[in-house]
Formats: sequence, structure tokens, C-alpha cells
Amino acid sequence: MESAALSRIGLAGLAVMGQNLALNIAEKGFPISVYNRTTSKVDETVARAADEGGLPLFGHHSPREFVLSLSRPRSIIILVKAGAPVDQTIATLSRFLEPGDAIIDGGNEWYENTERRISEASPQGLLYLGMGVSGGEEGARRGPSLMPGGSRQAFDNVADILSKVAAQVDDGPCVTYVGPGGAGNFVKMVHNGIEYGDMQLISEAYDVLKTVGGLSNQDLANIFDEWNRGELESFLIEITADIFKVKDEHGEGELVDKILDKTGMKGTGKWTVQQAAELSVAAPTIAASLDCRYLSGLKEEREAAAGVLEQAGISNEALRASVGAVDKKRLIDDVRQALYASKICSYAQGMNLLRAKSQEKGWNLNLGELARIWKGGCIIRARFLDRIKKAYERNGSLPNLIVDPEFAREMAQRQGAWRRVVGLAIGAGISTPGMCASLSYFDTYRRSRLPANLVQAQRDLFGAHTYERIDRPGSFHTEWTKLARQSEAGVGAHN
Ligand code: 6PG
Repeated sequence: MESAALSRIGLAGLAVMGQNLALNIAEKGFPISVYNRTTSKVDETVARAADEGGLPLFGHHSPREFVLSLSRPRSIIILVKAGAPVDQTIATLSRFLEPGDAIIDGGNEWYENTERRISEASPQGLLYLGMGVSGGEEGARRGPSLMPGGSRQAFDNVADILSKVAAQVDDGPCVTYVGPGGAGNFVKMVHNGIEYGDMQLISEAYDVLKTVGGLSNQDLANIFDEWNRGELESFLIEITADIFKVKDEHGEGELVDKILDKTGMKGTGKWTVQQAAELSVAAPTIAASLDCRYLSGLKEEREAAAGVLEQAGISNEALRASVGAVDKKRLIDDVRQALYASKICSYAQGMNLLRAKSQEKGWNLNLGELARIWKGGCIIRARFLDRIKKAYERNGSLPNLIVDPEFAREMAQRQGAWRRVVGLAIGAGISTPGMCASLSYFDTYRRSRLPANLVQAQRDLFGAHTYERIDRPGSFHTEWTKLARQSEAGVGAHN
């Protein structure tokens, strides 16, 4: 379809996400121009818009025509693979752009690339936004969660469009201006880290219920459906229930049992863990989920290890048998509580990572507002995000979600079940790294005295790194080895 009138917005990059987001924008009544380097994708998108009742979507095969078809100041969303393809697309389009026009990168981009592009765009007077988009194909089409960061002006120019296009929840559209620079991409990166944690924790719940509880896929589907009606209500729990219901069209039983146990990944989870380390923020649940993906990738090595260790006398059956029979009903209820408590700790880590980065960069991130825009549209959308939002509204400087009075009460109620599940899994030889990491995080954080005194003494002994004392100010060094020898000698003399 060709149009004489100018479009309100443009979108370049018509892979699955781009096509769906463009159709979503058009459906909300905003005329949109679309462009893709491979022109068949343009025609495909135009055809889809026509099929869907003639949505106001206009295809262009040349970048110049595409840019000139937009009303000024122009706003162009680009949805291409992160990294070099983004730079190439910007180079192609910016030749035709004018001061005041804006580029909005909707990919899973490394936040520093966005900061570099903001600086590169500025001499030409171009505005730039790095916008996290979550929700997959369905979210892009029906309403994603949007995390735009960068130029405030660029955001204001399209705020009305983004508000309509985003998922809608009880307290508004799932979009907010996140902050300057690469804040939007950073927030999306942490969203993905939390997504890794959630998926890992759910897979551990599945493993315990299946391996220790002996539950069938049908039982699991029912349990996850039930959980999705309570405190665990979330997109990931909902889709997990569906997964257990799908039969294998190539053989007996359900498809889930035929899937190779090797997890793929694209990198945002790894960045999250790298950033946690850079910022000295503990994120053990997210790190455990990443490590598990790495270990899962060693399928052949794990199979060989299983053989060697079985020969050495470590058998799955014996470990499983060692924990004896379990009360299924109680196990299911315990696992639900363990999953919820573990999840709180994982989100606490993600939120603290966001706060640390916000302080470092001066982004002024509003954690409660971020929890709000994750309530709908995105992969981690969940009922309990509303509780997180409220916790930060109650206390904006909350040091950790765990010490919000409501979450503290919930943790207290669930800790018995949580410890039982982790203990049972350890006894049965089933690894639950995410749940264990969350529980250790909780126990480490809540104990006012840790064995770090001994580590300090060791550091001082071998490296004269000094230590502080609990009863007087200052920094101290002790000749540990000499005093220990003297004391040994002293003890000897007494004998
Ligand atoms: C989303 C998802 C999306 C994508 C991840 C998956 O919010 O819609 O996070 O961005 O599914 O990139 O990441 P891995 O391939 O690393 O699991």
C-alpha cells in the first residue's frame, strides 16, 4: 500500500519481533512505515496488514523513501540483531535523517553500545533511545513490556504510541521512561537475568516433584495450573503447565520428555552475572541459573561422568531410596513454598543490581515503577510483581526486598518448607542450585555474624591485609604465625 500522507512512526527490521510490533502499532491506529533490507519481508508484512483488515501500514523498499515517508520529527524503531547490524542500520538510515529525528533500538543490546550510539548520533542532532522490548512474538503483537532509556525528548515524541502499544495492566500501560543513557537496555538485561533465574527455579521444582515425588506429566500439568491460580501466578508457570500437556507426535508420551537437556542462550544472562560481579552485588540465584546452562551444555561429558561415578558406587536409585517414601501432597505444597521464597531472593538480587548500577551511573531508576512495567507483557510478568512495586512504594530506600515487612513475613512462613525441599533434594542427590543459592543468600544476609572473621584472619596471616575489630576502631595486623608458635610452645611448657 502506498500513501501520500506521512506516517507517524517507522520501523526497520522485519523479522518476527519487528513484524509483530509494526502490526501492533498500526492496529492501535498509528500509521506506520516499514522497511527491511531483504525486501520480501516488507511485502510479507504489508500482506499481513492487509489480511488483518487493512491496517495503516506502508511498506518501503528503499531506505530513503522509507525515511522521507515519516512525519517530522521522525521516530524510527529498529529491530535487528544486536551489535554490528544495529550500527549498519543506523548508518543506512541516518543519511536521510535530520536534526531532531530519533532512532529507537528495540533489540537486546549491550547498554554501552547504546551509550556510544547516543554520543555518535548527537553531532548530527539525532536523538537516540535504547528500548528493551519483552514478551516474545505474542507480546510484540498483543502488548509487550517496554523499557525505553536514553533521550527524554525522543521518548516524549512517541510516548502516546508506546502507551497504547504496551501491555495494559490495572495500574496503567507497561512502559515508562526508564532513565538516561543505556538505562533501558540495562533494565532489560536484568529482566532477562531474572528470567533465567525463574526458569531455573521452575525446572528444579519440576525435577524434585518428578524424581522424588514420582509425579507424571499429567500431575505436573495439573499442579502448575493450580499454582497459576495462587501466589505463583505468572506467565512462566502458565506456559509450563501447557508444556506438560503436549503429546509427542513422533512417539509415546509427552514431548517434554523427548527434548535434549541442553539449554541454549544468547548472552543477556551472562551479561547480568558479569555486571553483578563488576558492581560487587551478590546475584547467586541468577549466577546458578547461568552455571546450570553451561553444565547442561556438557551433555556428553555428563553422560560419561554418570558412568564413571556409578562404577565408583554412586547410584541415582540408591540416593533416591535413601530419602525414603514421601507424602506427595506435602511435597507439592512444600515445593510451591520453596519456589516462591527462592523467587523472592532472586528478584531481590536483580533489584539490588539495578539500584547499584543506578547509583554508579546516576540514572535515578525507580525500582517500584520498574516492577510495575513488568506486571504485564514481559516474560517475567507475575502477580507478585505488584507486591514488589508496593514494597518500594512503602520504602524507596529499602535495602533488600527480604526485609520489607510483608516479604519478611512471607519468608518466615515459608522457610520451613523451603529448608525441607532443599534438604530432601540434597539427600536424594538432585541438584537444586537455584533454590540452594536463594536459601544461602537468605541465610547469609539475615545472619548478623558470619564466619568472615576467619577469612579476615587468614588474609592478615598470609598477606598482612589487616583486619578490623568488633570492639575498637582502627585497622590491625597481627603476627599470627609467630604468636601461634609461641602459644604452642607455651601450651607445651604447661604440659
Ligand atoms: C523477552 C525475552 C527475549 C528472549 C531472550 C532469551 O523478554 O522477550 O527475554 O528477549 O527470549 O533473549 O534469552 P536466551 O536465548 O539467552 O535464553
